[in-house]
Amino acid sequence: MFLGVDLGTSSIKLLLADQNGDLIDSALATYSANFPQPNWSEQNPIDWWNGFCTCVRILGERNNLKQIEALSFSGQMHGLVILDENEEVIRPAILWNDGRTTEECMVLNKLPVVEWTGNIALAGFTAPKLLWLKKHESQNFSRISKILLPKDYLAYRLTGVFATDVSDASGTLYFDVQKGYWSQPMLDVLGIREEQLPEIHESVDVIGTVHADVGLSLDTKVVIGGGDQAMGAIGTGTVCDGQVSVSLGTSGVLFINSENYPSENRGRLHAFRNANGQFHLMGVTLSCAGSTKWWVEDVLGRTDYDSLFAGISALPINELIFLPYLMGERSPINDPNAKGVFYGMNASFGQKQMTKAVVEGVCLSLLDCLKTANECGIQPADARVIGGGAKSPEWLQVLSDVTGLALHTIQTTEGGALGAIILSMTACGRFSSISEGCAILIHEDKIYYPDQGRTSAYTEKFERYKRINY
Ligand code: XUL
Repeated sequence: MFLGVDLGTSSIKLLLADQNGDLIDSALATYSANFPQPNWSEQNPIDWWNGFCTCVRILGERNNLKQIEALSFSGQMHGLVILDENEEVIRPAILWNDGRTTEECMVLNKLPVVEWTGNIALAGFTAPKLLWLKKHESQNFSRISKILLPKDYLAYRLTGVFATDVSDASGTLYFDVQKGYWSQPMLDVLGIREEQLPEIHESVDVIGTVHADVGLSLDTKVVIGGGDQAMGAIGTGTVCDGQVSVSLGTSGVLFINSENYPSENRGRLHAFRNANGQFHLMGVTLSCAGSTKWWVEDVLGRTDYDSLFAGISALPINELIFLPYLMGERSPINDPNAKGVFYGMNASFGQKQMTKAVVEGVCLSLLDCLKTANECGIQPADARVIGGGAKSPEWLQVLSDVTGLALHTIQTTEGGALGAIILSMTACGRFSSISEGCAILIHEDKIYYPDQGRTSAYTEKFERYKRINY
């Protein structure tokens, strides 16, 4: 058997597969995030570990876990986990969605960070969190013995091996994405030393075997795995050069796999190493299903998404525009202080038109990322779609019309945990490559084609969307 571990922000999920990669069981444990101040977001790494142990216990009641040959991780990215010399967690982890580092990002973005790392400083990334810590909690900063990313903390507790992988390291902003090692100029700026950082591996590497007594066999191989977006891409089979996937989750992600380092990008989209040994570009819209949830549940007080969304893709394209910047925005405008807007209201508009505007606004924001990718020479014709939003045919049709992309849904929605299973199986020689694993385990389901007339109307609407932005 093989085990995929998905360390998320609200829960940890373990997925168990048989020797052919067919899913046979799963277990989930939830935990909460703490928001000690506005814009802050923290979690206790011990809660992740306890959640992991709980899930192993649940699975162990129904399965013989000694048969697990290998396990791997898909982890929430960017979070800062720090340990002291006794291996104790020094303070709660500062998470990817924590926005306390606006000032630190401004400082870093005055330096040639794109040259050093391939990316600009964004509030979610790890490096600005370290700068913040150095300034505001110098006592804690001086006690740091090890700096880890969330999934690497679990791997460390499980194996005793201090390791990370290239995809997750890419989101730290102290990793040189092009060259594939820690960036010395960034370590100097942050005031940290290389020995405080884990050894860097490819995502498919076996870093060791289980040494903790959690109910797994001690010869179970531990494959380091990767950041959740890269592992989600494996879980959707987005592994060929130029292949694209779109995730319509709380945040929306445009993900482009690339065989070579995307040197044209120059910090506009995230340029990261991928979990399949290649690279990827990534555009992130922070409030995607977050915007529709806000509108449908918080504003309208409804939960019947399907009836509210019914028919919106065929409604006339009007002048009402929604900017979905309810939590600031990452790509491509990179402005944590950007605000949400309804623009162009008139008295004839009601719930339907405003609902359509919210869905459209999120899609226009993803189109903004796609246009940026186009400027880097990437011209996709289609994409695979995943995430909660991909369950809505209306939303998918609007997205297809707005972006001009043919959209393929896929049969499974397991994403990162399935990616972790594919990596585990590849590491154990069950597949000759990650691509072969994807081809065998992942299949397309439905296709949505763009309506040419509506796509050209949206080209014009996008111009107006951009004018409101500035
Ligand atoms: C990626 C990102 C999120 C987090 C949490 O850049 O911020 O995907 O990893 O899921």
